[in-house]
Amino acid sequence: MNRVALAAAVLGAAGMGITALAAAQAPSRSVQDGVYTVAQATRGGALYEDKCASCHGATTDITPGMAPLLGDYVFQDTWKGRSVGDLFERILNTMPQSAPGTLSPQETAEIIAHILSANRAPAGDVTLADAVAPLKQIQMSW
Ligand code: HEC
Repeated sequence: MNRVALAAAVLGAAGMGITALAAAQAPSRSVQDGVYTVAQATRGGALYEDKCASCHGATTDITPGMAPLLGDYVFQDTWKGRSVGDLFERILNTMPQSAPGTLSPQETAEIIAHILSANRAPAGDVTLADAVAPLKQIQMSW
């Protein structure tokens, strides 16, 4: 096999892998399906107040302070079409910016429940999971 053919074969295989992966991870639910509970969002609201609001402001604010608002149209535009798992990883790994890595997975899920509620995604009967894999199945659509 010459180098071009080899490269084409490798790219082809990689392409198939990506397609298979995308199919396996295609979100099956959206945040409009009632994916968190009111109790979870309430606990998350207190955590948000304590650990996030100093930089991000209240989720009901309309003017950003030193960090982007998490309950406005800019936030919704940024995250539209992405999975809750992406947001979970972002927060768990990088926030609070002053102390990344200090939130537990459960606290992160509660804070996300609060953020979803602030973006008017409805509450439901099921608790939002606190692990990446199931959250990758839930798409953000507003
Ligand atoms: C010390 C200030 C500070 C604190 C506290 C903080 N953040 Fe942030 N956060 C930032 C800044 C600044 C950015 C924008 C820069 C960046 O993207 O890292 C940001 C970005 C973000 C983003 C991405 C926003 C977007 O529109 O894409 C999310 C989500 C987020 N923070 C969530 C949180 C959560 C949840 C908490 C509380 C657990 C928190 N942050 C606490 C400063 C902070």
